[in-house]
Amino acid sequence: MKVTAIAASPRSGQMTHTVLNYTLDKIREINPSVTTELISLADKVISPCTACGYCNKNFSCSINDDMEPIIDNLKESRPDVLIMGSPVYMGSMSAQAKAFFDRTVLFRRNNFAFKNVIGCCIAVGASRNGGQELTIQAMHAAMLIHGMLVIGDSAPTAHFGGTGWARVPGGYENDPDSLATYDSLAQRIVETLALIKQTPKEAK
Ligand SMILES: Cc1cc2nc3c(=O)[nH]c(=O)nc-3n(C[C@H](O)[C@H](O)[C@H](O)COP(=O)(O)O)c2cc1C
Repeated sequence: MKVTAIAASPRSGQMTHTVLNYTLDKIREINPSVTTELISLADKVISPCTACGYCNKNFSCSINDDMEPIIDNLKESRPDVLIMGSPVYMGSMSAQAKAFFDRTVLFRRNNFAFKNVIGCCIAVGASRNGGQELTIQAMHAAMLIHGMLVIGDSAPTAHFGGTGWARVPGGYENDPDSLATYDSLAQRIVETLALIKQTPKEAK
């Protein structure tokens, strides 16, 4: 069982990366047999999709940039879960996250390769209520378009996913409300993985 997180912040090691790593640690703590990977989009050049149509006929992208190895990785490692983590930028996902999603259209155009991959999100804003839920909703839309199985966080928080506040005094560890959403998201991921693994192959 493999969980891959995409950190779509241009700032390596800041809040988005930190809380994704926290969530991945939690997942492995709940179920040590799960393997995890974090792919950072910081310092990477991921150009916007140019709608060239190349991926209608090829399972690859015509643009040669840093998305190429990420596409190869996702094709080869075939994660069971994709966690998308984005900072809130102007009430929505970062440009890096949007470019990433647009460039993954090739998976949709090649037999819906992301179909039934479990998808979930974490959004981090500088304001407590700065658009985290809107950001997650926008990212959920892309996941639904892939035919992914979109999940939020589990009870007792049970809303849209991980919602983080970057300016909490003393750092993210002093923000029990946000931590509860990451914990519940990790719980929900492990629960859903267990359900999927029980499902007979022909039903998937
Ligand atoms: C261009 C830009 C737009 C932003 N817009 C919002 C916003 O709408 N709401 C919010 O709460 N924070 C906003 N922020 C703050 C970031 O979401 C916040 O700093 C977050 O921690 C960044 O993630 P990082 O620490 O992983 O880089 C914005 C930051 C930038 C650079």
